[in-house]
Order: sequence, then C-alpha cells, then structure tokens
Amino acid sequence: MELWREPEAFRRACDAARARHARVGLVPTMGALHAGHLALVEEARRRADFVAVTIFVNPTQFGPNEDFGRYPRDLDRDAALCERAGASAVFAPTVDAMYVAGDETRVHVGATAGPLCGPHRPGHFEGVATIVAKLLGLTGPSVAVFGRKDYQQLRVIHRVVRDLFLPVEVVGMRTVREADGLAMSSRNAYLKPQHRAAARAIPEALSAACKAFEEGERDAETLAGMVRAGVELVATSVDYVEVADPESLAPVLVGDRTGDRALVALAVRLGGARLIDNVVLGEDPPPIDPTRDGEAAS
Ligand code: PAJ
Repeated sequence: MELWREPEAFRRACDAARARHARVGLVPTMGALHAGHLALVEEARRRADFVAVTIFVNPTQFGPNEDFGRYPRDLDRDAALCERAGASAVFAPTVDAMYVAGDETRVHVGATAGPLCGPHRPGHFEGVATIVAKLLGLTGPSVAVFGRKDYQQLRVIHRVVRDLFLPVEVVGMRTVREADGLAMSSRNAYLKPQHRAAARAIPEALSAACKAFEEGERDAETLAGMVRAGVELVATSVDYVEVADPESLAPVLVGDRTGDRALVALAVRLGGARLIDNVVLGEDPPPIDPTRDGEAAS
C-alpha cells in the first residue's frame, strides 16, 4: 500500500491506476478509524480495483468552538488498518496542501444543508462539500463510499455530485454499531464511562420508533416524541430529534403523517461529546436487533 502526503503525487498515482484500466474507488475519512470506516473500505474494494482512503481532519467543516484541535489523530495506526482492509493507497495531506495560500473557492449547498445539523453547525456542510469536491477532483474515482451514519452529509454529497455533474457513483453504507447498538464514531472516544453506558439509550429510542412504525404508527410527532423522551433521559442536552423526508430532509410537520419511509435523525450531547444517529423507518433494521436481545436475555 502506498502512503501519499502531496496532492499532486497522489493525483499521479490515481491517474496511473486509471491508465492501467483499474477502477478507482474513494473512501474519504478524518481518521481515528473504526470498524464503520473499514466496512466502507471493504465495500469499495468489492466495487473497485484501486481503493484510495483519504485521512484528513478538515478544518473548514469545524466551527470555532468545535473539536478540530482535539480530534484524535494517529496516522500510523490508521494506515495499518487501511492496509489490512485492502486499501491500495492512503492520502493524508496537510491543511496547507489542501487549502493552498490564496484558496477562496467553497461549495455552497442549499436546502439539503438547511435542516437537522444545519442550524447547529453553521458552515459545516459547506466545508464538507468543499473538501469532498477537492478529494473527488484529485482522485477521479468511479465510485465513492460514504456511511449512512452521517445521513445528512450523504444527502449533501449526492446533491453536490448531481448538481455539478461529477462523474462518480456515490454509495451509502449501513451504520456499523457497537454490541449495545451505539453507532460507531471516532467521537465516542470522548465519552466518559458513565456517558458511554448511558449512550445505549440512543439506539434503544430509535429501535422503539422502528417497532412503533412497524406496528403502524405514522404520526410524525408521536414517533419523534418517543425518541425524544428516550434520549432526554440521558442526554446532557438535545440539539434536535426530527422526523423528515429521507430524500429532501424536509421536516414532516406536527400533525402530519409520514409516508412508507421516514427519516428519524437526532443529535445529542453527552458530557463533552456530540453524537448523531438516525434510522430510515420502513427501510433500516432497528439499531438493536430484538431477536439478538432475546437470545442475550435467555
Ligand atoms: P468521518 O467522520 O471520519 O467518516 C468517514 C466516513 O465514515 C463517512 O462517510 C461516515 O459516514 C462513515 N462512518 C462513520 N461512522 C460510521 C459507522 N458507524 N458506520 C458506517 N459508516 C460510518 O464524515 C467524515 O469523516 C467527513 O465529514 C468527510 C466526509 C471525510 C469529509 O471531511
């Protein structure tokens, strides 16, 4: 596996792969890799011959009071994990290399970036869209793989690729979870033991909504209320719990009924960690598998 720090050298490696008719796949990450990231690399490996993983903590997607400075960084460990998962190349540039002096272009995304995390993280999705556009430009992949854990981010990237006619297939992969159902996240490392234990309430609340939906509940406020009640018991604060259209992300308003599919998305704070999670009701399995739970209890 090759490790690249310089954008132009990385671009040449991707060009060379395409020149020998290898199909190129891209998995953008910020490092601190876990099994969720590695599932994306493995999927990219199934869909491409030459898989590039990028590791870059992107400053433009962090707000001034967010965790850019303390975000966990361990390139040696991450590169070894990428190699084991089948990556062909890791690209880990410096901030100055990705935002060269004089850099002034940003990819602004409209309504898709508006709701959910939008008001809580001003500028976040512009930073994401900009860095993903830069990485797609350097890599020239046929396929790029992202996680549904960051559901709004995935919708934003679909929008960017469609609106800018970028020649890449975007694939969204199911959320990989810990044994108790908590979505894997590099930010789980910030959780103190008591908050980590309490965080189980998040997948439990989403699973309760899945069950109610399956039993026929379609009232958006009832579904959101169930999830809110579950997470409020443990969260330090709740940024939002919302039921929304899975494509446009437009909220399903109070008093409205959902369709056959509905996104339930949330962001909560537990101590110093901000955690997000979601399920698409009518599509995703519940975060906590009731059959597995039953087995554990017997
Ligand atoms: P990061 O948080 O490192 O996530 C990289 C990719 O891994 C994203 O597509 C994310 O959705 C996916 N991912 C994270 N946790 C996951 C889980 N538990 N199961 C499945 N997939 C998971 O998202 C970013 O970095 C950045 O915003 C980035 C797209 C790299 C742009 O800077």
